[in-house]
Amino acid sequence: MERGNFGTKIGVILATAGSAVGLGNIWRFPYMTGQNGGAAFILIYILCVIMFGIPGMVSEFIVGRHGAANAARAYKIIGGHKAWALVGIVGAITSMIILGFYAVVAGWCMQYLFASIFGGINGDAAYVAEYFKTFSSDAIKPTLWGITFILLTHLVVQNGVRNGIEKVSNLLMPCLFILLIIIVIAACLQPGAEKGIEFLLKPDFSKLNRNIFLEALGQAFFSLSLGTACLCTYASYFSRQTNLMKSAAQIAGIDTIVAILAGLMIFPAAFSVGVNPDCGPSLIFITLPNVFQQAFGGVHIIGYIIAILFYALLVLAALTSTISMHEIGTAFFFEELSRKKKGIFSHMNVSRKGGAWIESIICIIICIFCSLSMGGVKNLTLFNMSILDFCDFFTAQILLPLGAFVTCILVGWYVPKKVIRDEFTNWGTIRSTLFDIYLFAVRFICPICIIAIELYQTGLLK
Ligand code: PFF
Repeated sequence: MERGNFGTKIGVILATAGSAVGLGNIWRFPYMTGQNGGAAFILIYILCVIMFGIPGMVSEFIVGRHGAANAARAYKIIGGHKAWALVGIVGAITSMIILGFYAVVAGWCMQYLFASIFGGINGDAAYVAEYFKTFSSDAIKPTLWGITFILLTHLVVQNGVRNGIEKVSNLLMPCLFILLIIIVIAACLQPGAEKGIEFLLKPDFSKLNRNIFLEALGQAFFSLSLGTACLCTYASYFSRQTNLMKSAAQIAGIDTIVAILAGLMIFPAAFSVGVNPDCGPSLIFITLPNVFQQAFGGVHIIGYIIAILFYALLVLAALTSTISMHEIGTAFFFEELSRKKKGIFSHMNVSRKGGAWIESIICIIICIFCSLSMGGVKNLTLFNMSILDFCDFFTAQILLPLGAFVTCILVGWYVPKKVIRDEFTNWGTIRSTLFDIYLFAVRFICPICIIAIELYQTGLLK
């Protein structure tokens, strides 16, 4: 079977960084930082990225490149037993759930992009809050935006790895950086912006609470696209020359810088107009439109342009991430359901386009439930949370750490050390100075800490 691959080194980095950089950085990270007291949360977050994120990424890369197949098959190949395929399958299911709720929020961003162009969110604070409530709890409009976003993603993914994913990432990622820098500069030039910068950079440890560790851990995994088999799927398109450790460090670095820049874009502007940024998930939909209107020295047109650029940035960032989530399932359905010789699916011959459609339809169904649970249909809840909130919590704080934990156990303890060393050093052609540290991290530090944090947070460990 013909498999695609990334054509260039920069294509690998931009596409994988495109997966990592998304609403996790610009929507989730700032509101979590706002709720958890600012710089102290960021410090713990960075620690999680270095200690668990980078080793976890390298491990998923190793599984993917070694198997050169969709996630389920790649885990089966490296694990040497078909039971390991389950890790890839659970990863693919996790990514479908994420894509389902993520598309809802991405759809909100599309609505806000159009509303900021046509002046729909201009008004006082009460009007902006009401606008979000009325829009997000509508049964039709946000649901249609969510579905549109999945279909847009579908269009890119069905064109394949090099012509779809790589081309679009190479185009969108530089645009994203330019927009980000413009908005950060504009925000930091506001009078009174220093308070926001201080909030981000000066830790106040008295603000730390019990939940912060699991939240930082979940955020690190979510932001690095770790634990869903996404990195494993992308790595299956890497070449034998790709330096896995270096790529993981570069991508984690880009991702963390973008998250901090997103903070620098939001908090200085918010503090400069005296708005408290601890309102949670609605931060960018309720607080920010107010901030955009009040800030920028009363020059209305600048606030207008910055708001449009901001929501355009969110849409672009979200798209490069949804593409990567979609690819996990598309590769899985395509490779597992095409020209199989035996088994229950032996009569099927699914093309890449067909695989993409199966993935899109499943995600659209999840997206509809998530969107309606925001108020369109009453009492659409799970464990006292809206389905959207439940999907977010369940994936980021349970499924992703679990996926990363199992991958570390597999790579650290089951796979022969020679296979891991060969992948890490590109078959002895690059230096292996960090290999022992990496192996120690995946064998001991990552699994023990992930389990400890999960147990501590659930109260089983006091
Ligand atoms: N890393 C993405 C973000 O920060 O928005 C979210 C994500 C992408 C999660 C791909 C999982 C995934 F497989």
